[in-house]
Amino acid sequence: MSVDADRPSTPRALRRLLPFVRPALPRLLAGMAAGLIAGLVALAIPQVLQVLVDSALQQGDASAVLPATLVIVGLGVLEAAAILVRRWLVLTPNTKVEASMRNALYEHLQELPVAFHDRWPSGQLLSRAVHDLNLIRRWLAFGLVLLVVNGVTVVVGAALLLAIDPLLGGVFLVSALPIWIVAMRFEKRYSRAARRSQDQAGDLATAVEESVHGIRVLKAFGRGPHALKKFERQAEELRGTEMEKARAIAFIWRWLTLIPDATLAVCLVIGVALAAQGQVTAGSLVAFFATATVLRFPLESIGFLLSFTLDARNATDRFFEVIDEPVLIGDPASPATIEKPAGRLEFRDVHFRYPDAPDGAPDLLDGIDLVLEPGETMALVGLTGSGKSTLTALPTRLYEVTGGSVLLDGVDVRDLRLGELRRHIAMAFEDATLFSDTVRENVLLGSRDGSDETMREALAVAQAQFVDDLPDGVDTVIGEEGLSLSGGQRQRLALARAVAAKPTVLVLDDPLSALDVETEELVEAALRRVLSSTTALVVAHRPSTVMLADRVAVLEEGRITAVGRHSDLLAENEHYRFVISSLDDEDTRDEPRDGDGPLDGPEDGQPRGDEDPRIADERTEVRA
Ligand SMILES: Nc1ncnc2c1ncn2[C@@H]1O[C@H](COP(=O)(O)OP(=O)(O)O)[C@@H](O)[C@H]1O
Ligand SMILES: [Mg+2]
Repeated sequence: MSVDADRPSTPRALRRLLPFVRPALPRLLAGMAAGLIAGLVALAIPQVLQVLVDSALQQGDASAVLPATLVIVGLGVLEAAAILVRRWLVLTPNTKVEASMRNALYEHLQELPVAFHDRWPSGQLLSRAVHDLNLIRRWLAFGLVLLVVNGVTVVVGAALLLAIDPLLGGVFLVSALPIWIVAMRFEKRYSRAARRSQDQAGDLATAVEESVHGIRVLKAFGRGPHALKKFERQAEELRGTEMEKARAIAFIWRWLTLIPDATLAVCLVIGVALAAQGQVTAGSLVAFFATATVLRFPLESIGFLLSFTLDARNATDRFFEVIDEPVLIGDPASPATIEKPAGRLEFRDVHFRYPDAPDGAPDLLDGIDLVLEPGETMALVGLTGSGKSTLTALPTRLYEVTGGSVLLDGVDVRDLRLGELRRHIAMAFEDATLFSDTVRENVLLGSRDGSDETMREALAVAQAQFVDDLPDGVDTVIGEEGLSLSGGQRQRLALARAVAAKPTVLVLDDPLSALDVETEELVEAALRRVLSSTTALVVAHRPSTVMLADRVAVLEEGRITAVGRHSDLLAENEHYRFVISSLDDEDTRDEPRDGDGPLDGPEDGQPRGDEDPRIADERTEVRA
């Protein structure tokens, strides 16, 4: 995301917009033509003026006054009309360009793997989707069109000046040359700051997003002032960059006003001297200065158009940085299909490491071998950070294995279309994510039939009867991310969503952690009914969840070190005993736990190494 030395030229960078602009191109070109007509008409007026002045004033012939005046009025009206047509032509098509680019960006964001979203802050994506695309649209409508129109106007105008009087015209052109030098220096100064400011604006958006998202935590910990300070610092940095840009603009603006004025002054002195000697007519002099005046706006606009174009270039770069991100996890070229899924899930020598893992460190998952037979419920147990959540993300290809393979009914999951794969395997996560939509939409998100019956059944399994007490029942719109619900309620809806998908394989990453013990038991009983026909991989947070499973797999240092029944493992496996004793064994406590506050969430399951081993043993005995 940095400005590097060997980046492509601005025109080449902007040329990448062409595929998106193409549908709007005819109107855009027509708009440019209208703009050119307006510019050329403006230049024609002084030429008529010349005839008028020379014939009426110098030769005392008044007969030309009326027709010439009418022609000038007519040209003025034509110019105004052409400008109107230009605006009308370019405005609407570009809103379509903006919309199609935005859709392309959104679609790509949906396809990009989770690993991409781990790396990219949401504010950077947000600012690209909103601010940058808006800027590109405005540039296409005004910047690009004016760049062409004004450029041509200046060239034609300069030729006219030379034609009116070669000497005066030559003086004008030579004294206007410094504009080039100023423009070049400006480009250098401005583009450095411009890119930085767009990136900083994205960072700022991320900060806002994060603090709004985490507003409860910030408030509860009294960190509001701290967040504010951080925000202020970022805003101050952005302000500094904006000031740098403003100074660069002030610099070019100053010269772009000064140089044409000074040029005119020089021309005026020479012109008057020439006229006094009778070397130019009064009409030519009037025409010359009238033409030079027409060129003032196009010349002055160079600064604005340059900065606008550089901004648009950066916006384009930022847009394509996302679009160019390869979709590494996609559909295979020749997909396989599973006609009648049985639900045998196999991990075969699976390796996985996160891209940012330090060199030399062993793989997080270092050769996982595990088979879940159809209909079997397998609990996955391991210390916090051992990679349980990572392992559960592999069957649905939220992350791609870095070695080995995951097989569903003997078919490598990479050989299935993502759509099919994710129909067969459904997931529920510990941090339940809900969308600001109705309960119904949230629960039926992955359901194929989308029927009321499916929803009711799933809600019943998840013990989510509370939805009937919501103001509009299942049609209640729950707040953004479901924040209007308690942690336990959110988890139950997320679980219902996974159940409603009626998958062949259900992967549950600790989805019951925020439930109170009684509710959890009810959910488990209901799940046992559902799971009897479904293969399930369940990350266990409490011993009671482990009890639900047919077998338990122990994840230790990147490998499955033991698989067996809970009671056997308790008896034989020391690491298992240690992990079990460190689990959040709420149900041996007396006080019920509601988990119904945002800060009353699950404990982090951190192994409590300092715990008295005898107590832990007592607990496990109770379990056994
Ligand atoms: N998106 C990620 N990017 C990089 N590292 C990660 C990511 N998610 C988890 N990790 C790291 O991988 C390890 C295992 O994490 P996780 O699978 O969540 O463990 P568990 O679910 O067993 O607690 C941890 O050390 C964690 O820091
Ligand atoms: Mg986890």
